[in-house]
This record gives sequence, C-alpha cells and structure tokens, in this order.
Amino acid sequence: MKTSEAQLLLDWYKVNGRILPWRANGAHPDPYAVWVSEIMLQQTTVKTVCGYFEKWMQRFPTLKSLAESSIDDVLLLWQGLGYYTRAKKMHACARVVATQYNGVFPSEREKLLKLPGIGPYTASSICAFAFNLPETVVDGNVIRVLARCYGIEKEVDRDIIMPLAKKLTPSLHGADYASAIMDLGATVCTPVSPRCEACPWRENCLARQKGIQENIPVLKKTQKKKKNGSVFILTNAQGELFIRKRSSGLLSGLWELPWSEDGTVPFEAPWQKLPHKVRHIFTHIDLSLEFYKSNSPCPESFSSTGLFVSPEKLSDYAFSTLMKKVFKTINVSL
Ligand code: ADE
Repeated sequence: MKTSEAQLLLDWYKVNGRILPWRANGAHPDPYAVWVSEIMLQQTTVKTVCGYFEKWMQRFPTLKSLAESSIDDVLLLWQGLGYYTRAKKMHACARVVATQYNGVFPSEREKLLKLPGIGPYTASSICAFAFNLPETVVDGNVIRVLARCYGIEKEVDRDIIMPLAKKLTPSLHGADYASAIMDLGATVCTPVSPRCEACPWRENCLARQKGIQENIPVLKKTQKKKKNGSVFILTNAQGELFIRKRSSGLLSGLWELPWSEDGTVPFEAPWQKLPHKVRHIFTHIDLSLEFYKSNSPCPESFSSTGLFVSPEKLSDYAFSTLMKKVFKTINVSL
C-alpha cells in the first residue's frame, strides 16, 4: 500500500521536528499554553516568541492568574511584541473563559470562535494542538509548502490553500501533523534556498519538478500608506519627561511621548526642531517621525493629560515598539 502524504510527513517530523517551549509530543496537556503561544505567534517570529512565552508563563502560569491580573500588568509584559490588540483581547478572553467555562478552554471550534480574539486560525490551532483534533491549520509556512507542492503559480492566500490543506489533513495525530507541516515550511521548504533533497514530499512536489520553487508562492502585496508625524519632548525643571497614556486606537492602554500625525502641536510655544528621525513600519502604514522640543513651561491644561516621569522610572510603564524606538533615538534607556 502507498504510504500517504500525511504519514510521510509524520515520519519526517518524528526525527526532524523542532523542540519548542509550547510543544508537546502529541496533544498539549494545557490548552491555555497553546492559546498563549498561538496568539503570540500570529504576527511574531518563533525566535522572538520563545523569550516572551517563557516570561508570560512564569508571570501568568494559569488562565485564572491572567484573568485576575490588570490590563496594565498584561501590557507591561507584552510591550515590544507589537499588535497590542492581541494582548487586550487575551485579557478579555481569559475573563470570559474564567467565568463561562470555569477557567478551561472548550474543545469545540464553534465555542472557541465566540471568544474575544479567537478567529478561524486560532480556533483550529487550539483544536489541533491541544485536543489532537483533525483540524486544518494554515499559516504562512503552510501556504508556501502547499503552493509549491501543487505548483500554484498565480497569487495565493489562505482561502485558496485551505481546501487543498484540508484534503491532506489526516484523521488522527492532529497535533503532530499541524506541527509537522509548519516545521517543514520553517526548516526545509524555506522562502529562499529550500532544501528539497531533505523534503519528505519531494517526489510529488510540482514546483520542484518544474524547478520553480523559489518563484512560489506569489503573495498579494499590501500597499503601505506613507504617513508623517511629530514627537514632542517636554521636560520639567527636575529633568522628568512628559508621557501620557493612549486612550483610543490600536495602541490604547500604552504610554507614549506626545506625538501627532498632522503636525498639531500640544500647545503654543517656540518648538525647536531636533535632528533625530524615526521610521517605523506597521502592517499598513509606513510612518516617519520627526522630533521637537520646547523649554517653555507646560500649561496645566496639557500637563494634566499625562505625567512627568524620571527617566529611571520609565521601565514601570508599558510602551509600544514604536515608542521604544523613539526613546532609543533620543538616547533614553528604558
Ligand atoms: N506558528 C504558528 N503556530 C506555531 C507553532 N505551534 N509552532 C511553530 N510555529 C508556529
């Protein structure tokens, strides 16, 4: 009997799978740990997540401990990982699971999908990694592997790959299979210089047969919108720096130096332009910042919107990756 594609991959994984802090052999005994890692991994590399995941599990070892914490504590731990909505939704999700499900994640995809911050990808990955269910998990690695195997030369996305991925997903070993196909993409079927000779699927890979591996996948390009902004550096007589907490938008809950996108100054004063510049790329925005400083005293109407903090105390506050870059540029260490 011909060995199935899934079995070839599972055999390869047994020998070549990566050892990662959120992995178990087969199903993971703690769905909470799976959920934490999957949310972190959504927009962040495995290497970066390793450090954050370990720290997170020490600080919030159980779902209950997360549900009982404050959002400020959560953001403090998350700072630097980016896409802070993820952390805010995790906090909300932990509270719902604590009250509605007695602190234990449900194993039904439909129930998972109703929880804050859990979309189709995360629901499937929890079902696969924690409950060993035959759920199809498609991330960027899986898109690349399957687009190459099937020789898809046109633009691909998750929706195009999903039906092909479903056909290959075995009815058993959901956790190991999902880990295996991701690892194949991360370690063998890499974006450049794939190691096809080490691939368990090499015999049937259409891209390899045609020698076009590195031209696939063709991914849709998102056009980034260019924006400019101004950062305002304000210090008081004690050398403390003015910071404020953002109350809306994607970065709400995080602290920042006052800045504006349209050049609006915080208050009328002789603003002196500084030579520093920062460029930061978000998913859809390419932001360039310039810096201004004023030695005029801050009017009460403005200073009441934030705090003056001594540079040594800044590490008590959560800042976005953008703000960390800003501090580094003006030589303030956190
Ligand atoms: N990317 C998303 N989920 C992952 C996982 N469980 N292991 C490795 N990479 C991943």
